[in-house]
Amino acid sequence: MPHLVAPSLLSADFLNLEKDIVMLNQSDADWFHLDIMDGLFVPNISFGFPIIEKIRKATDKPLDVHLMIIDPGRYLERFKKAGADIISIHIEACKDPIPALRTIRNLQAKAGIVIKPETPVDVLADLIGEVDLVLIMSVNPGFGGQSFMQHTFDKIAELRSMIRSLNSNVLIEVDGGIDLQNAAPLVEAGVDVLVAGNTIFSSGNPMQTIHQLKSIR
Ligand code: DX5
Ligand code: ZN
Repeated sequence: MPHLVAPSLLSADFLNLEKDIVMLNQSDADWFHLDIMDGLFVPNISFGFPIIEKIRKATDKPLDVHLMIIDPGRYLERFKKAGADIISIHIEACKDPIPALRTIRNLQAKAGIVIKPETPVDVLADLIGEVDLVLIMSVNPGFGGQSFMQHTFDKIAELRSMIRSLNSNVLIEVDGGIDLQNAAPLVEAGVDVLVAGNTIFSSGNPMQTIHQLKSIR
């Protein structure tokens, strides 16, 4: 499967969101990555249901919702109702992620589990069968525009071999600090989904940047 590109709207222009959505619709972007923050799990607050509902009406592309909220099980149904296609929860944000992951799948959404930079890959061993994707954070969650953490490459290699040994087809998504330099080695390492915010929206030509991220072989 060719890799996917999921622009993070956290870096979009919220005064002109429609313009960015139209651009993304016309671009090579595969998914819309939506970062939801509660001000508790991460020291930042982003946006919520009304914005997701509006975005849902403005695009046919899948909405990839990254929940940075404590106890995400409380809100899964509402995120699905708002238009989420993929819902990812942090392993650090819930006591037992399995019931929440099963709820996501019962809602007919794709389920993702996310690990922070300091969380080791081995905590995922019992969860691979419960998810459609694993999201490895390559920055501390909470803000766009941070620098990529290099140890992410070791985690990707470890996760790749775990997935292979389990004979699974779970996708690997990486999020944080992805740019035109590290994107190629990430794809080479076996990453299926590249999330990028700052690199796309702060570039002179976001559509072209998405095309460049997508054209990596
Ligand atoms: C950070 C978010 C990311 C972020 C990525 O908490 O999960 O999706 O927006 O932004 P960049 O690509 O700017 O690091
Ligand atoms: Zn994200």
